[in-house]
Amino acid sequence: MMAMNPTANVPPAWLPLGFMAAAGVGLVGFGVAAATTAPTVVTFPRSDEVIATVHLAVLAFLSTAVLGALHQFGPVVGARPLRSVPVGALTGVLFVPGAWAIPIGFATGHVGVIQTGGVLATAAVVLAAWNLSRPLSAPDKGAPIVGLRMAVIYLVATAAFGVTYAFDRSNFWFELLSHRVLAHAHLGLIGWLGLAYVSVAEKLWPMFLLAHRPHVRAGVRAVWSVGLGAPVLTVGLLWPSELLSIVGGALVLAGLVSHLTSLAQVIHHRRRGLELLHGYVLGAAACLVVAMVLGVVAGLAPVGVEVRTRLTAAEVVALILWLALAVLGHSHKIVPFISWNRLRDRGIRTGRDGKPLLFAHLVDKRASQVTFGLALLGAAAALGGVLGSTTVIVRGAGALLALAGLVAIANLVSGPLLMIRWHDRRPDQSDGSGRPAEVSS
Ligand code: HEM
Repeated sequence: MMAMNPTANVPPAWLPLGFMAAAGVGLVGFGVAAATTAPTVVTFPRSDEVIATVHLAVLAFLSTAVLGALHQFGPVVGARPLRSVPVGALTGVLFVPGAWAIPIGFATGHVGVIQTGGVLATAAVVLAAWNLSRPLSAPDKGAPIVGLRMAVIYLVATAAFGVTYAFDRSNFWFELLSHRVLAHAHLGLIGWLGLAYVSVAEKLWPMFLLAHRPHVRAGVRAVWSVGLGAPVLTVGLLWPSELLSIVGGALVLAGLVSHLTSLAQVIHHRRRGLELLHGYVLGAAACLVVAMVLGVVAGLAPVGVEVRTRLTAAEVVALILWLALAVLGHSHKIVPFISWNRLRDRGIRTGRDGKPLLFAHLVDKRASQVTFGLALLGAAAALGGVLGSTTVIVRGAGALLALAGLVAIANLVSGPLLMIRWHDRRPDQSDGSGRPAEVSS
């Protein structure tokens, strides 16, 4: 039977690339906000300006990037197209402004802006859930697709929590106690973003790291434990119920340990040398281990409210950095992968060196290394600064992450554009068609 072309069902390149470009700007915004609000991050992590910085990270950067990746990989994993490409575009047009309005509302103290952003973002994620439901409902595709299904459902639930909290701010239906906020935060960070990464990693890691594992049991355990643990932990935090929080927390921890085990197995069975993506994935794994330790201590240690708030704030930062390094690392593969297909469709099949067009032709290696250095330093400084309550280090971390975002955008956008321009300007376009001439093999 003829092998199915994995990109046969994917949407036009502009859709996922549009989300990825917006996410890059979100990363820069997060870095700048972290640098600006550093003094408050250290002294009062529950303040509105810090909540603004957090939502730039989790909405304008991470959720935008992961939604973009899902619009590309959902159809690949499910071997079915989205329900509608125009609805995919509408999702982006609603989500991105919503993802920025929420932090801007928090930063400026305008609850109406938070609420408007909440409505836009929630409408967008409901549209995304509908649109992705076709590819993600494909049967017999294994644990990764089940994990993605659950992650999208948890995104809708996280947004529903968030928009309810946003309207509660002016209606005072209930007191917004910290455990209620933590329920929303953990469902978003672990149930939506975390589970989406854990699920997609089971497909991307072997592909990008050319690994042939004898089995994928650790990956399957990771998806199911995190997928089932996240809602139990959320209900436990919301109720609040110590028992449910412990059971949910233990399931999530077991799932994350399996995720790290799966990573170790992929690296052990890889068929290519270590490369930059490994650095990002291992840096991300280190942040995850820190987050797991902080989560356990914050949840179980006999400490006062102030110390618990600090520990939880540091856990949220560590979870954000886990996902930030993972997303930034994989975007240096995903964006060239999507651009490469698009360029080949345009008839561009060779690089400047006359060799067959490769992903490597579409990213500048030096710029990728600089981005990695800035991101890793930024992540380490952010963790150190928050744990050590040192404003200047948190400020430096924000600046490094913003710079990493700028270099990444410049690198990933300029690569394909410069390739198109080079091909379009090649002197031997003698047939007047305007299409780039093929370099004859
Ligand atoms: C529709 C989208 C969303 C809206 C309207 C929203 C709204 C809110 C609101 C009103 C709060 C409580 C602030 C307070 O303490 O008074 C909050 C806190 C928080 N949200 Fe969201 N949220 C949304 C999506 C998300 C997502 C997707 C994530 C994670 C992936 C997330 C992570 C957090 C975190 C970590 C906090 C706690 C921040 C802190 O205390 O510093 N939110 N959100």
